[in-house]
Amino acid sequence: MTQKKKDASAKKETVQSQVKKDVVLNPNNIKSVAIMCSGGDAPGMNVVIRSAVRTALGMGLKPYGINRGWSGLLEGDVVPLDASSVGNIMQKGGTILQTSRCPEFHEPEIRKEAANILRRKGIDALIVCGGNGSFNGAWKLHSEHDIPIIGIPGTIDNDISGTDYSIGFDTAVQTAVEAVDKIRDTAHSHARTFIVEVMGRKSPAIALHVGVSCGAENIVFPNDHIDFEAIHADIARGMDRGKQSSIIIVAEGETPGLCYDIKRKLADDYDISSHLCILGHIQRGGKPTALDRFRACRMGYRAIKALMDGERASVTAYLEGDVKLVPFSNCLENKKEYEKPFLELVKLLAI
Ligand code: F6P
Repeated sequence: MTQKKKDASAKKETVQSQVKKDVVLNPNNIKSVAIMCSGGDAPGMNVVIRSAVRTALGMGLKPYGINRGWSGLLEGDVVPLDASSVGNIMQKGGTILQTSRCPEFHEPEIRKEAANILRRKGIDALIVCGGNGSFNGAWKLHSEHDIPIIGIPGTIDNDISGTDYSIGFDTAVQTAVEAVDKIRDTAHSHARTFIVEVMGRKSPAIALHVGVSCGAENIVFPNDHIDFEAIHADIARGMDRGKQSSIIIVAEGETPGLCYDIKRKLADDYDISSHLCILGHIQRGGKPTALDRFRACRMGYRAIKALMDGERASVTAYLEGDVKLVPFSNCLENKKEYEKPFLELVKLLAI
């Protein structure tokens, strides 16, 4: 064999062994990945984006960002990202990619269009950071069009089934706790009762955690029967033993504003005057806590690693203190358990 032929055959062997290595490391043969946020924003989403983009770069993938969730994808709003596009964003609330709620994505025809756009843009795989509504869309897109998709739980409500944690919850609770502490100062100074409404459309998780952490006298869930007699008795007992303030935490439920009804009823039927504070979207903003940042870094990394390992449709769930991959089907519902035992804790500690 001539030297030229020897060189050519050596080169061929190297290329073949590289291909084999790539297939083993990257059975999905993914060369590009796009990340998007969807649904309500949550503090820590930027950390997820940074982690996924930099892990992708480290593993030789071309990362893209999809602006404004499914709505942006349908408009082809897909941009290439590099290490500097995600620099200096960890400490910032919101999401640099922005987000949206996109009811049209329930339509199969719309999802088909989305899949075509991804193919036209040369995107091989998708990472979706959002809640269970976003995961429903992602799961359908994968099932119908075989696009590899990894979901990362991101919602302040922490209400996704199949994961103990979703990015943003700790920050939202911290923000609300700081606000309620301030309300307690003024409530005490004026010997007042305050009703504070916190977020959580289908979940009382924020209300429970804030109520326990702030020593609230009562926590109210919109879907439950509200025991006004018990609320009245708790406030009266506290006053009898010299308490100067009472805080009632209300989970907003489907229609924010329940606190107005509670205020009216307490005044009309029990002669209790109260002040109101609806914390609202303040809970969705602000710099993520260290806990949210740490878990977001781990989930972003795990999502890319999963794609490289050949996963085609999973969620980076937080379970038993670790980030684990679980099927989408585990995460498409709202969490059912209401952590009701915390209510007893609140009652016992607020005497
Ligand atoms: O993202 C979750 C959440 O903040 C819920 O707690 C709240 O009920 C809902 O979103 C509000 O949504 P929007 O900002 O679209 O009104």
